[in-house]
Amino acid sequence: MSTPILALNRSTFGDPSNKGNLLSDEEALALLSEWVPNQRLQLHMKQVGAVMKAWAIEREGADELTARKWHQAGLLHDADWEKFPDSHCRVIIEKLEELKVDPEVIHCIASHGPKYFGVEPENTMDKMIYVFDELSGFIHAAALIRPTRYEGLDVKSIQKKLKTPSFAAQVSRDDISDAISRIDTPLEEIIAFIIDHQKEVQ
Ligand SMILES: [Fe+2]
Repeated sequence: MSTPILALNRSTFGDPSNKGNLLSDEEALALLSEWVPNQRLQLHMKQVGAVMKAWAIEREGADELTARKWHQAGLLHDADWEKFPDSHCRVIIEKLEELKVDPEVIHCIASHGPKYFGVEPENTMDKMIYVFDELSGFIHAAALIRPTRYEGLDVKSIQKKLKTPSFAAQVSRDDISDAISRIDTPLEEIIAFIIDHQKEVQ
């Protein structure tokens, strides 16, 4: 979820000497519970985290630490959205800097909405969080209105809904197109990957 709020006016994030530092899974989930009482938003973040991790492992051949970085960026990317809507992104970034988290994770979170936060996705992790964020929420919305939810949900029906402006109207089709234009994988393949990997996260 990216709401047009605040340009960060920064281009570097975190301290290079913190490379390789991550929160433990327990710490990350505790932060999520404390900062994100809204279960639906929590689920969105868990789904983006799961899809990021799966992509890192399956498509980027990531080692364990790298896969955990991708997961943590996805899991925490909207952590300040509910309690600090006017400072979305800035608050969680500063919190993770204070907690000495790996700068790549912080940069990834900072670049999940370039149009809003003014930070361009640079590496593959940055580009993929931008790709997955809106699409993950969109696909979940599409699953929720079906009696069988994710079962039998196909790529074509998602593509059709993307062309229907009234469905999940708050999801920016422009952001999705912009994000997809920055990677080499076609939209259909991304949709199929998200359906496959977030259906268990509920
Ligand atoms: Fe999001």
